[in-house]
Amino acid sequence: MKADIILGCQWGDEGKGRIIDLYAADYDVVARFGGGDNAGHSIVVGSQELALRIVPSAVMHPDVELFVGGGAVVNPQTLLDELGRLAAIGIDTSRVKISDRAHIVLPHHVTRDAAAERERGSGAIGTTGRGIGPAYVDRVARSGIRFADAIHEASAETDADTAVVLEAARRLAPHVVDGVAYIHERLDGGKRILLEGAQGALLDVGYGTYPYVTSSHTIAGGACTGLGIGPGTIGRVIGVFKAYCTRVGAGPLPSELHDERGEKLRRQGGEFGTVTGRPRRCGWFDAVAARYAVALNGLTNAIVTKLDVLTGFERIGLVTSYRVGGRSAGFSAAGEPDLQTDVEELPGWSEPIADCRQIADLPATARAYLQRLQEVLNVPIEMVSVGRERSQLAR
Ligand code: GDP
Ligand code: IMO
Ligand code: MG
Repeated sequence: MKADIILGCQWGDEGKGRIIDLYAADYDVVARFGGGDNAGHSIVVGSQELALRIVPSAVMHPDVELFVGGGAVVNPQTLLDELGRLAAIGIDTSRVKISDRAHIVLPHHVTRDAAAERERGSGAIGTTGRGIGPAYVDRVARSGIRFADAIHEASAETDADTAVVLEAARRLAPHVVDGVAYIHERLDGGKRILLEGAQGALLDVGYGTYPYVTSSHTIAGGACTGLGIGPGTIGRVIGVFKAYCTRVGAGPLPSELHDERGEKLRRQGGEFGTVTGRPRRCGWFDAVAARYAVALNGLTNAIVTKLDVLTGFERIGLVTSYRVGGRSAGFSAAGEPDLQTDVEELPGWSEPIADCRQIADLPATARAYLQRLQEVLNVPIEMVSVGRERSQLAR
């Protein structure tokens, strides 16, 4: 049995959470492989709405096991709060397991995150302020504290704030498992496993728009290192793309619209951060960035979300190529100050599409837009979402 991956292929907030919620019905285990509470994954089922931070996006499926891998950095207090909120609405949280290798986000990580941002001045990244970067720095510097350390070893002398967090980590002990044994027992036992990405490919620390990135490997390779499994165990790699682009925080967004069309995308798409409430920057779908993400992840399939948000645009743009100094350029030029983009315009549609359940039922111009995205991506688009609710999908 191979493990499949679902991950974001732009700058985060592609709608991964709601897609994982849907696909989870066909899996026994959903395992998150990276990031921390910088993530915010929204799920809407009927009138119930959830915003998840660390717990995998499959909580609404009572029989699915939920796992947070060693590639994640976990703030114990955020996780305890999240588990409490879930338990309060009747969700069985005893099935949430955390790898003993996951690192703990400590108060000094949060302080250092803020201080580093201040120091960067006008070059600030616009982090979520959750201490994620410093926690990963300490992991690499071999000075971090893992759940294994907090639970099994007497803690060294610490300040009062840190002691509180380490105590919170110890309260999570019933959830902490040998993460490598956990995942391999399930792989060997033939369980169907879905690997959940956080953030997006273009925020990857190595291959995103550095330095305006997060501090983890968000791409498909990060699933292997984040869980301790080999590449041969990976089956399908499904990339989630919004029908346009957004980004929260600073850094290159080559297709950004600084006019009323960007405003309209933000308004119609409700593009405000799940974690910080910050307005998301908006622009057209970027084919150069998308093809780069297909390559980085070795995608086998794609899903397009939020197509309904494009309703009411007379013409819809698509960035097809980049140029620098008159010469054609690849995605690595995204941050060049004199970057120019070529925009193809496609006819839009005015009909609401939130009730369409088949791609064939979409307006002809919407189908043509999808057809164009399909050509650009060169992997099959297996589903399109047309609204926030779980059932609002067209296949
Ligand atoms: P994630 O981080 O990739 O899980 O995405 P977020 O949950 O942070 O942001 C996606 C937002 O778009 C959430 O508010 C979703 O409820 C919403 N959303 C997801 N899919 C659709 C869709 O097809 N149409 C609309 N209008 N909203 C959607
Ligand atoms: P989900 O999983 C969107 C962005 C931040 C900032 C940069 C670095 O919901 O898609 P960090 O706090 O990680 O050091 O911030 O990365 N960022 C996200 N943007 N969605 C996310 O997660 C993000 N996680 C981090 O805004 O630009
Ligand atoms: Mg999000």
